Amino acid sequence: MGLAEGKAQDMMQTAALLGFDTKIIGSTNDYAKTAGSNVVVITSGIPRKPGMTREELIGTNAGIVKNVCENILKHSPDAIIIVISNPMDTMTYLALTSTGLPKNRIFGMGGILDSARFKYQLSQHLGCSPADLNAVVVGGHGDTTMIPLLRFATWNSVPVIKFLGENQQKQIVADTMVGGATLTKLLGTSAWYAPGATGAALVEAIVRDEKRLFTCCVSLNGEYGQRDICLGVPVIIGKIGWEKIIDFDLNADEQAAFNKSADAVRSMNDVLKTL
Ligand SMILES: NC(=O)c1ccc[n+]([C@@H]2O[C@H](COP(=O)([O-])OP(=O)(O)OC[C@H]3O[C@@H](n4cnc5c(N)ncnc54)[C@H](O)[C@@H]3O)[C@@H](O)[C@H]2O)c1
Repeated sequence: MGLAEGKAQDMMQTAALLGFDTKIIGSTNDYAKTAGSNVVVITSGIPRKPGMTREELIGTNAGIVKNVCENILKHSPDAIIIVISNPMDTMTYLALTSTGLPKNRIFGMGGILDSARFKYQLSQHLGCSPADLNAVVVGGHGDTTMIPLLRFATWNSVPVIKFLGENQQKQIVADTMVGGATLTKLLGTSAWYAPGATGAALVEAIVRDEKRLFTCCVSLNGEYGQRDICLGVPVIIGKIGWEKIIDFDLNADEQAAFNKSADAVRSMNDVLKTL
């Protein structure tokens, strides 16, 4: 018995108050108890400390993620795997290439969280409810690699740029990109409520076959002009994992930013060859 068993009991003890009947079990160091899982979310690995980039975690987390994938598949060969461990784009690429699973069964959680952070920033500037906003971040899940697509963001169908001055627009994009780093500085470690909620939304979309449109880190084979890389693009999430990529028709500047993001992620992926 260990921490996971304790957390599971603590959560189960909210069932009578919150009115759910989901069975929650915890398992510390015993993958056998996860046997037959449909969906597995990997959060194993070290988080950032203040001042660290996600990229600095690669050496430690690559070994952990590879090992966790092997153990998951021993017990749950049909599982869909969602990678959260950072640097997430490279960890997703590693999980995909080291397991050889069909590409639709492995994807990374990043863009969906960054999009939620983008909506938070927009709501602060517009003085509106984040629930009325549509806004998407694509590209890598890094402070310098993510691309908040301001041109596509709407407030109940009205383009947000109509309401924002140029400086405000720049500020929103910049604050979105360092959304995670800002929290790491404030909290002393990685954030958890929003990452937890986004992970849960993805699992729910799979289990309920919801066909939600979220930005996730998936294997590209020519889409968005890239191949042999996992990067954040809008995808449909349903019972088979990620089902298809939606093309947002980026303009020349957005595509150039996407290509630059891919270059940065690709050079991180190259580090895997040296480990
Ligand atoms: N993709 C995202 O948007 C996002 C958001 C938040 C955090 N993260 C990343 O998720 C990871 C976890 O962050 P956290 O805040 O939950 O950290 P944490 O330290 O609270 O949890 C990490 C967990 O990994 C486990 N672990 C360590 N080594 C392991 C191994 N060899 N095998 C199995 N499990 C092992 C630890 O026991 C611990 O439970 C970090 O890499 C962090 O950067 C990603």
